[in-house]
Amino acid sequence: LKHIGVLTSGGDAPGMNAAVRAVVRCAIYHGMEVTGIHEGYTGLLEGKLESLNSRSVANIINQGGTFLKSARCREFYEPEGRARAAAQLEESGIQALVVIGGDGSFTGAVLLAREHRVSVVGIPGTIDNDIYGTDFTIGFDTAINTVQDAVDKIRDTATSHNRLFFIEVMGRDAGYIALYTGIGAGSEEILIPEQSRGMDYLLQSLERSGRKGKTSSIVIVAEGDKSGGVYELAKTVEAKMDGYQSRVTVLGHIQRGGRPTCADRVLASRLGVAAVDALRDGSSGVMVGVRNNLISLTGLEKACKERTEINAELIRVADIVSI
Ligand code: F6P
Repeated sequence: LKHIGVLTSGGDAPGMNAAVRAVVRCAIYHGMEVTGIHEGYTGLLEGKLESLNSRSVANIINQGGTFLKSARCREFYEPEGRARAAAQLEESGIQALVVIGGDGSFTGAVLLAREHRVSVVGIPGTIDNDIYGTDFTIGFDTAINTVQDAVDKIRDTATSHNRLFFIEVMGRDAGYIALYTGIGAGSEEILIPEQSRGMDYLLQSLERSGRKGKTSSIVIVAEGDKSGGVYELAKTVEAKMDGYQSRVTVLGHIQRGGRPTCADRVLASRLGVAAVDALRDGSSGVMVGVRNNLISLTGLEKACKERTEINAELIRVADIVSI
């Protein structure tokens, strides 16, 4: 293997730069050529390619976002788009591709590998932490620290006014950000898409908190929760509970930015090296991840299809420590 390409795709995540850096440096360490593909699959179709060396990835380990830029590419969903992408890779002499992204990006990679025999390895990069085959995805740790910091600040104002705060956090289909930050920032309740306890449960829980002397409460709501949206929830609860004013904060894309934490930089560096190692070993159609602190390979198709199970122990801990 002499020449690999690397791209970032889908929603950006803090630590993607550190992953690109590790891929580039590991490839160069082994005497390979590396091409950076700008703007994900869109850039591949448009030929936005740049030859990268060790210095091209200097001073980016500490930066959020992705210097290669990212995109969600419609054309790549079609067989014609993937055929053009494969032709572009061949023309540029790129023999294998490292795709850093979430399950949408991996679905495209699986099809590219299957239809055109392109060697691909995936690196899980998404703040949602919802990829099967790895305990953690790149960007999750930074995002939960950003959320925790924000909730700590909201707590100051919530306690000063005896208010009930509903805070919406990201996680289109997954409750990991909500569950971790609900525990870390000490929220009263956590609403996640994987588990629906219903409005009566929430009201009883908040009333119980009031009876126990809590004068303010924080409820973390995952974006993908199915209770009807954070604004509706806040209105309903305020109408049904005496003595509380409710307020809503939607943290939004602030969760996707910022300097990656050390944990994310280390994870990204490990997975970048592991991806190049996997390609050099002749693997293709796999995702590199970390399980029980060991590098682990999972079929890309499985990584896309299988759902991650929410950790029941974390839910139990959240329930116990919030009484
Ligand atoms: O998948 C990562 C994520 O940040 C989700 O949590 C969120 O729902 C989505 O991306 C937002 O995507 P966009 O930036 O395209 O609005």
